[in-house]
Amino acid sequence: MTRLVDPVEQEQVDPALRPRRFADYIGQEKIKDNLKVYVQAAMARNEALDHVLLSGPPGLGKTSLAHIIATELGVGLRTASGPTLERGGDLAAILNSLGPREVLFIDEIHRLPRAVEEVLYPALEDFHIDIVLGQGPGAQSVRLPLPRFTLVGATTRSGLLTSPLRGRFGIQAVLDFYQPAELRTILLQSAGRLSLELTEDAALELARRSRGTPRIANRLLRRARDFAQVHRNGVIDLELTRMALGRLDVDERGLDSLDRRILHAIAVRFDGGPVGLSNLAAAIGEEQDTIEEVCEPFLIREGLVQRTPQGRILTQSGRRALGIPGEKP
Ligand SMILES: Nc1ncnc2c1ncn2[C@@H]1O[C@H](COP(=O)(O)OP(=O)(O)OP(=O)(O)O)[C@@H](O)[C@H]1O
Ligand SMILES: [Mg+2]
Repeated sequence: MTRLVDPVEQEQVDPALRPRRFADYIGQEKIKDNLKVYVQAAMARNEALDHVLLSGPPGLGKTSLAHIIATELGVGLRTASGPTLERGGDLAAILNSLGPREVLFIDEIHRLPRAVEEVLYPALEDFHIDIVLGQGPGAQSVRLPLPRFTLVGATTRSGLLTSPLRGRFGIQAVLDFYQPAELRTILLQSAGRLSLELTEDAALELARRSRGTPRIANRLLRRARDFAQVHRNGVIDLELTRMALGRLDVDERGLDSLDRRILHAIAVRFDGGPVGLSNLAAAIGEEQDTIEEVCEPFLIREGLVQRTPQGRILTQSGRRALGIPGEKP
């Protein structure tokens, strides 16, 4: 079953809800303010923007920000994804098709094969690629110049990036979870765009229970809309929101059943921890990547789980969240 609060994209993105300009990209103020300066400066100099690395958990707005950067620069954007670029030639073809100052967006850049990364280095640094023509002793290397372009890389796992690749990004931004007040603004903006009637207190309730993640906030809003349509003539008020979230098994903190299974397994099966990721994954029958990339960042940020060199441990707050009283003996 797919998780309702899964921050990973599953359904068709509602294009109406994707922010298009800095002005409707809510929150991440520091990152946004700095990017605005870099974009403006690059445009004033008529140069390509420096390469940008965006990292942070799923659903926080990396892809949106990449598109906004291109729009604000007034240039085109080409999209690629780390795992789909299998050979150096795949990337070379895309690079060769870029226009001056255009943006190449590579999602999941931590999953770029090594051979493709090798093609990327000279492209990023000196704006050229080396192509080998022919085979054997007669083979010739030809240097192909590229226009100056901007690479925007996105990753949920910046720790997995090789350091030479990371070092080639002049601009690096780490996106953090959103505050409830910011998510509330995003939800009210989304409600407006979808022509929904969403009360202020209902917006705040959805915001508080969205794991700090805009994608989840918008998804919960769509589900609340369904309940409202059937139960309330379409109005999404506080009472309906609480009912809908209860039906969806999203708790007061925004934790869903998978989060609770993780906490519960650490508490009961592993006596509060420490437990290694692979044992934890096996105990609850879930992928390690899902636990590490999708669930844990929020559980750690909320102070429910701690990552120690020995493994994951449940904190006092984590015990309380499960309703387990008292200190660990
Ligand atoms: N700052 C923001 N303001 C308003 N809406 C936002 C913001 N950030 C994200 N969103 C909403 O959340 C959705 C998901 O964002 P996006 O696809 O950019 O996340 P992502 O970080 O690229 O996720 P992933 O790591 O899964 O690729 C967007 O379609 C948009 O509706
Ligand atoms: Mg994305």
